[in-house]
Amino acid sequence: MEIIAALDFDDINKAKELVKKVGSNIFYYKVGLELFVSSGPSIIDWLKSENKKVFLDLKFHDIPNTASRAVSAAANYGADIINIHTQGGKQMMQKCVEELQNECSRKNLAKPLLIGVTVLTSLDDNHLIEYSINDFSAAGYVLKLAGFAKECGLDGVVSSAKETKIIKENLGSDFITVTPGIRPAGADITDQKRVVTPKDALHLGSDYIVIGRPITAAKDPAYAAELILKEINE
Ligand code: C5P
Repeated sequence: MEIIAALDFDDINKAKELVKKVGSNIFYYKVGLELFVSSGPSIIDWLKSENKKVFLDLKFHDIPNTASRAVSAAANYGADIINIHTQGGKQMMQKCVEELQNECSRKNLAKPLLIGVTVLTSLDDNHLIEYSINDFSAAGYVLKLAGFAKECGLDGVVSSAKETKIIKENLGSDFITVTPGIRPAGADITDQKRVVTPKDALHLGSDYIVIGRPITAAKDPAYAAELILKEINE
């Protein structure tokens, strides 16, 4: 299991500072909406120059033509993982898979993993009820969306680690699970709802865990990352 640290900052210098502080403990970094919108793509070049792997978390959700063109453009940045929303529909997912493959073969680019966001970890069963989504639970709905993602040729999904087991059991162990909503025992849950500890995520079979504030908001982010790694490896 790999740890992805979420660089949720509004300033590229703060992001670089965090990466330098954490050092060799973490290899994967997530560039999400806040950092990308405020700083642009240069953070990706910088992370690559530091030999880090990049998850570009822009969660594209639009009509098939627009979403697939955005995915192709993202592939040119050299990101290792990119994502789209599974709720954008099967046609959108299929077109994104197709265009990504075409763009990578045309330009001889390494193909990034294309991952589908299912139900955000900040939502729970109450959201499904409020939105009249006729499913039993977040887990059931996540599995349905993950099944569509697999059918459309995506490499895996973003979900809570609470759903990793059911996804792997139903869709195969090589279908990748990227799981945010990670909180070490006793940490502040903040706006997340479907949370899991790093150690439990490992036991549940997550391939990647995404950790933001438990590292970025810590007084000593390097120490926070070290403690999480220690907890996982114990
Ligand atoms: O600070 P925290 O650990 O809650 O950060 C989690 C990160 O993962 C955020 O950058 C958030 O955008 C992202 N994320 C999420 N839930 C998803 C997909 C991405 O929390 N389903």
